Amino acid sequence: MTDKATMKAIVFDRYGPPENLSLAEVPVPSPSAGEIRIRVHASTVNRTDTATLRAHPFFARAMTGLLRPKMHTLGVDFASEVDALGDGVTEFQPGDRVFGLSPETFGAHAEYLCVPAAGAIARIPAGIEFAEAVVGEGAWYANSTTKQLRAGQSCLIYGASGAIGTAAVQLAKAAGAEVTAVVGTRHLDLAERLGADRVIDYQQQDFTAIGETFDLVFDAVGKTSSFACRQLLKENALFCATDLGPFWSNLILEGWFRLTGSRRVQLPFPEDAPGFVRDLSGLMADGLFDGVFDRSYPLEETVEAFRYVETGQKTGIVVIEIP
Ligand SMILES: NC(=O)c1ccc[n+]([C@@H]2O[C@H](COP(=O)([O-])OP(=O)(O)OC[C@H]3O[C@@H](n4cnc5c(N)ncnc54)[C@H](OP(=O)(O)O)[C@@H]3O)[C@@H](O)[C@H]2O)c1
Repeated sequence: MTDKATMKAIVFDRYGPPENLSLAEVPVPSPSAGEIRIRVHASTVNRTDTATLRAHPFFARAMTGLLRPKMHTLGVDFASEVDALGDGVTEFQPGDRVFGLSPETFGAHAEYLCVPAAGAIARIPAGIEFAEAVVGEGAWYANSTTKQLRAGQSCLIYGASGAIGTAAVQLAKAAGAEVTAVVGTRHLDLAERLGADRVIDYQQQDFTAIGETFDLVFDAVGKTSSFACRQLLKENALFCATDLGPFWSNLILEGWFRLTGSRRVQLPFPEDAPGFVRDLSGLMADGLFDGVFDRSYPLEETVEAFRYVETGQKTGIVVIEIP
């Protein structure tokens, strides 16, 4: 590829609504030492992308750029072919099918992307298509909660139909936990298919009043609170959430409990993306983890994909295809 080669990418230079995104021709990046360049075949629009575009919550700007975004192309998940190797890369060969995460620099809403060869990247197991391999982001967030479960423990996952919730059910089952999934009526079959031991319809029943207690309660969609779920918690149970909660209560309570030496309320932040992506590749190869996909958009319609994801109504993952 010549130095002047260009590619299609979705770019933005101001925080705000999806209309701030546009399709542009930009230079194809060159891999530095230790990096690989990948030809992206599929990505996703997820809640990290939509939150980063809107700079929500406001303090996230400390990482993404105070007044203007530091990155100009979003996209955390990728499924791709290795296209070129930077100096010193021995782990991959051009043509290898890989998937992974670019959580710090984003950039996967583009035809090409450079990522560290030692980063959050693993081979796509045989038989899995590119569009079926963009499963990392929601699963990585879910794992930061479910990795605290031990075999035989019980957990309740509220909002088990989103990207994080569908992943959480599968990861909790893979950890040997007993899972109660709480979803809306249209997702009852899905939660059962994912392996939940018990499914509750939050539109028909008050899940906080079922008269049972759990080792872990996970609000995977940011719609309840530790106060509302207090009757569901065993004595030393954990309440974990994906969102700040009403009046930032999850953040405040996490800080308070830490002061007392407890981790009872947590807003777990995902860590060790490289290790997690490698583990996830193993679970996918063993048939223990499958992505749940809502719909796909071509790269050119990424703005539409952002609008849809912002409705908070998607089921699992929304894919961007870049054939
Ligand atoms: N700030 C960040 O960077 C960041 C990153 C990742 C995730 N998050 C947070 O993590 C949460 C989950 O993300 P996600 O991508 O998994 O979500 P998502 O896919 O957008 O979740 C949507 C699902 O939640 C269900 N839902 C909506 N209202 C509900 C309610 N009241 N009770 C139970 N289920 C409900 C919807 O189905 P029904 O309406 O039919 O029930 C839909 O299937 C979000 O709240 C997001 O803010 C934040």
